[in-house]
Amino acid sequence: DLPRFVKIVEVGPRDGLQNEKNVVPTSVKIELIHKLVASGLSVVEATSFVSPKWVPQLADAKDVVEGIQQTPDVRFPVLTPNLRGFEAAIAAGATEVAVFASASESFSKSNLNCTIEASLARYRDVTSAAKKHGIRVRGYVSCVVGCPVEGTVHPSKVAYVAKELYDMGCAEISLGDTIGVATPGRVVPMLEAVMSVVPVDKLAVHYHDTYGQALANILVSLEMGISIVDSSVSGLGGCPYAKGATGNVATEDVVYMLHGLGIETNVDLSKLMDAGNYICKHLDRPSGSKTASALSKL
Ligand code: HMG
Ligand code: MG
Repeated sequence: DLPRFVKIVEVGPRDGLQNEKNVVPTSVKIELIHKLVASGLSVVEATSFVSPKWVPQLADAKDVVEGIQQTPDVRFPVLTPNLRGFEAAIAAGATEVAVFASASESFSKSNLNCTIEASLARYRDVTSAAKKHGIRVRGYVSCVVGCPVEGTVHPSKVAYVAKELYDMGCAEISLGDTIGVATPGRVVPMLEAVMSVVPVDKLAVHYHDTYGQALANILVSLEMGISIVDSSVSGLGGCPYAKGATGNVATEDVVYMLHGLGIETNVDLSKLMDAGNYICKHLDRPSGSKTASALSKL
């Protein structure tokens, strides 16, 4: 049975922009976030409190968080790789953070410069500090199907990291196909393994669309009981530490599919397209969403 409602976690301002070479002005990032909120999205991942040497595009994280107009019932999680990032995030006014571990040892090294176990130890510090402050923490697992260095990643490794994140207090675990290599046949055993250790209502899926498989992967995930989907307006993005990986599945395409299936999202597709047009104009490139391209020609 498909869910009746799917919560979309919009990651465009973070995952979408983190890989952009030209620095996007802070005011444009804030305006993009406001337009995304105006479309009805209830979760917009705003930025990352990471090292500016590692991700120069998001060096303005503090200004972005301070500039967002807080809206009732809308959450703006920010990525925090360590306690230092967590402290900076809450000092700026963030009320939700996300930690990000990897199911692959090589990717952990290239993305966080530490082992999986060391990252989990840092995240225990973050989740225990978050508990004291009443801050919600989302946990990511990257490379849930494949790693740019190691190739195939076994489902048991994903389940292990997902359970660790859940046990340390993450309220939701997002399963990331960082490089977009998954196909539905690989998604099923991965989700089965994770669902045997973390309740399905705490799981989200995060598919990059490098091989054009993301919508198929989402559909099979919905059929398995997942009801939280990450996506990026206009399909922006890619990961700076995953060569060749393209953006997340486009939010417009996800909304079009879900509404076509009779699943509610609370998102207004035409307002979402306004947000997409706004950022694509700024970046001077066509939308990565097939739905947005098709509807804009009608
Ligand atoms: P490091 O170089 O091992 O650590 O980086 P360090 O402690 O030596 O620090 C290096 C510098 O960063 C120092 O500055 C620190 O002070 C500073 P320096 O002394 O050289 O001037 N620093 C910080 N600055 C700001 N905020 C902080 C912070 N911490 C240290 N929080 C570190 C380790 C974790 C910092 C680094 O590896 C890092 O920032 N990594 C983040 C990489 C990243 O953001 N990747 C993209 C997001 S993950 C993703 O896209 C996948 C996902 O979408 C899911 C999916 O698709 O699967 C989530
Ligand atoms: Mg990602």
